[in-house]
Amino acid sequence: MTRILVADPDLHSQQILADLLAERGYEFGAASDVSTALEPVSDGRVDLILADLSLPGGGGMELLEQVQRGHPETAVVLLSAFGSVQDAVKAMRHGAADFLGKPFAKDQVLLAVDRALEKSALKRENQELKLALDDRLRLDNVIGCDPRMQAIFKTVQAVADTRTTVLITGESGTGKTLLARALHQLSDRRAGPFVEVNCGALPESLLESELFGHVKGSFTGAVRDKIGKFEAAQGGTIFLDEIGTSTAAFQIKLLRVLQDRIIERVGDTKTISVDVRIVLATNKDLEQAVKDGEFREDLFYRINVVCVEMPPLRARRLDIQPLAEHFLQRFATEHGRKANNFSDAAAATLIHAQWPGNVRQLENVIERAVVLARGECIDRGDLPATLAPASLPPEGTSPTATSAGTGATDHDVDASTVGPPLPLKEALIEPEKRIIEQALAFCDGNRERAAAVLGINRSTLFHKLKKLGIR
Ligand SMILES: Nc1ncnc2c1ncn2[C@@H]1O[C@H](COP(=O)(O)OP(=O)(O)OP(=O)(O)O)[C@@H](O)[C@H]1O
Ligand SMILES: [Mg+2]
Repeated sequence: MTRILVADPDLHSQQILADLLAERGYEFGAASDVSTALEPVSDGRVDLILADLSLPGGGGMELLEQVQRGHPETAVVLLSAFGSVQDAVKAMRHGAADFLGKPFAKDQVLLAVDRALEKSALKRENQELKLALDDRLRLDNVIGCDPRMQAIFKTVQAVADTRTTVLITGESGTGKTLLARALHQLSDRRAGPFVEVNCGALPESLLESELFGHVKGSFTGAVRDKIGKFEAAQGGTIFLDEIGTSTAAFQIKLLRVLQDRIIERVGDTKTISVDVRIVLATNKDLEQAVKDGEFREDLFYRINVVCVEMPPLRARRLDIQPLAEHFLQRFATEHGRKANNFSDAAAATLIHAQWPGNVRQLENVIERAVVLARGECIDRGDLPATLAPASLPPEGTSPTATSAGTGATDHDVDASTVGPPLPLKEALIEPEKRIIEQALAFCDGNRERAAAVLGINRSTLFHKLKKLGIR
């Protein structure tokens, strides 16, 4: 049912409008100042407001501005007995659906009401469509047809809106970080921050201040107050990555936050309570780490409330094809390439490979293939020769070595073994230089594409170009 609010200090005028709306079968309410008018609006219970320009508590224009800011889908029609043309122009510019002079004709009001409601219905519809689209995107980002992935999605959806601590385990590159982000996006905290902390990478000395913040002067170098990651994540999610490699001291501090949800800035005695959802990830077997005395048992039980185990890619071969196609589309667009399908031989190679680097390795292999492929089809030859089938021992020295792979590597390095061997670092300079030059030539000098072909990131390539003196 359509709900209309009449915000007018003049009771007589309120009555006339109320009668008119009742005749039309609208549900309506009344308010005599700005703040009482805003109450039902903030609950999302109003479709349209008929507001007098001289409304106490700031005026109709102020009401209009506040409604536009917080609830733009609620339409506002302004009315005034003394309104000037300038007022009307200003009202329309600020998003009013209409501006009517008082006294008004009955038909005039009803026409304005109909029009405004039509507009607001359209706005609402648009907003709902947008939300539905957001929902799809969120689920689309994490691909998983395999029953084990489907089960994970169900768990994630079930706990998304709670504040339950979630532990994500799995080998490197299986999608732990992606899932943590998806969990945040799905939750009712999505409007809040998502703060990532790599616990393994933080030196002990910085850790406490990084996570909990500090007050000025609490230690040398603390020149001003600083808030920590936990405070920065207020109302949102904190993602503690690589929890398995954290130190004993860190584990004790974390246990305290998990138990009491309060923190203290370094050098401060004041406690601050934090409303934060905690998600943790590790590629270590924490149960084993507990047995080995590397991880506190009490902390393990605290964080192991909901545990999601990301299966390695080789254990969910059903997902390889859809993931490969997803990356193919993405990188073809990103690099402006024509590639849009896989040959049967290429598809078979992808499905049977070992994928020790999991989805991340697949992603890199596809990016490189997209850049290498000359036509629309990605063939076996566009994939690294090192993608050994699961049943065969991996070719070459390392199954993860997706770099180079232009066929020249093994040969060139072997050729340098005549005479006394050089130190490895030295022996590799020339072949490395040649391979990089080859990749650059192949990609017409485009460094971004050359980096993708070589399976390294751009900054690594730039660093190597400089080091090897390649122009
Ligand atoms: N199910 C998936 N669907 C789409 N992309 C994925 C999926 N899983 C992983 N990816 C992509 O693969 C890459 C590696 O994933 P991610 O960084 O989440 O792995 P991880 O388990 O956190 O790795 P690490 O242990 O090294 O931190 C990312 O680019 C991610 O977007
Ligand atoms: Mg990660």
